[in-house]
Amino acid sequence: MDNFTGKVAFITGGASGIGLGMAKAFSGAGMKVAIADVRQEALYKAVGELQRTGAVVLPIQLDVTDRARWAEAADEVEAALGPVQLLCNNAGIALPPGPIQDATWEDWDFCMGINLGGVVNGVQTFARRMIAHAAGGHIVNTCSIGGLVAGAGEGIYTTAKYGVAGLTEELRNDLWPHGIGVSLLCPGPTLTQLFASSDAVHPEGMPTGYVRKPLPGQAPGQPAPMVPFAVAPDEVGRRVLKGVQRNDLFIMTHPEFRNIIKARCDALLAAIGDEDIPSARRDFAASLNQDKIYAGQIAAGGPSWKS
Ligand SMILES: NC(=O)c1ccc[n+]([C@@H]2O[C@H](COP(=O)([O-])OP(=O)(O)OC[C@H]3O[C@@H](n4cnc5c(N)ncnc54)[C@H](O)[C@@H]3O)[C@@H](O)[C@H]2O)c1
Repeated sequence: MDNFTGKVAFITGGASGIGLGMAKAFSGAGMKVAIADVRQEALYKAVGELQRTGAVVLPIQLDVTDRARWAEAADEVEAALGPVQLLCNNAGIALPPGPIQDATWEDWDFCMGINLGGVVNGVQTFARRMIAHAAGGHIVNTCSIGGLVAGAGEGIYTTAKYGVAGLTEELRNDLWPHGIGVSLLCPGPTLTQLFASSDAVHPEGMPTGYVRKPLPGQAPGQPAPMVPFAVAPDEVGRRVLKGVQRNDLFIMTHPEFRNIIKARCDALLAAIGDEDIPSARRDFAASLNQDKIYAGQIAAGGPSWKS
């Protein structure tokens, strides 16, 4: 997608942080933006901020776990701004860190419902509408470095984000014949209100195995800060704009995680080994052409089962 002028973006979690950063980048490129969020007050604050830059912006109150509301929200945006050509499934929460075995059922449902279920609901709502509109488009799903490698002590979050990665890579494959690009945004630490907003949307009285402890430098009663060396969400927004322009599969923001990602890839390859296999098995695997997804060659032909 390289011409953004007058087109419509729908961004969940758009009231703050990375979602707002994307809204600024895309409105700066000439798009009309619908920002969807569950927090009404944050939504109006963000609308004010965007309007001051001259953006055309529509606030949509949406809990991304509410499937019926998704359909209404899509109708509202289409009626007010026109068909959506860029969908950013970005809303997410972070539970306080802690071992998986401490989780309650409710912790699982809360985190999986928003971080993975919210992306599923966005795709279910908009993919067919975008295909029917027959004007191409793009979908960006917000994952995380935590969706590529484990070990940060946030097992449910990691589980959900690995799910987002799988969904997104398959979706890229499925939507390329329709001229719709798909990207996986994998930010590292970004200076947002993620901890504070996660606590704000946490259902009151919900049984949980996790307690958020004050972070170093956090004053009593003040929202939990993100790590101080985190990057600015507006910078992430600009990277997403560039990634959509180039139709990148992966949009990365933090090169300092290169070695950790490489360690996982190396461990996978080492586990596979190099044993001899019958040529029929080798030929079958090669015939699937799955490597093209990762080589960015989908536009040049795509996997063989599609042809
Ligand atoms: N900040 C980071 O370091 C970081 C790193 C990697 C990935 N991410 C991911 O980036 C995305 C955006 O997070 P952020 O860091 O900008 O935090 P943020 O808190 O600034 O933004 C998240 C927004 O999602 C909204 N939200 C939460 N639950 C919702 C729901 N059920 N329905 C609709 N909206 C809901 C919140 O109200 C908030 O405005 C998340 O998916 C997060 O997992 C963040």
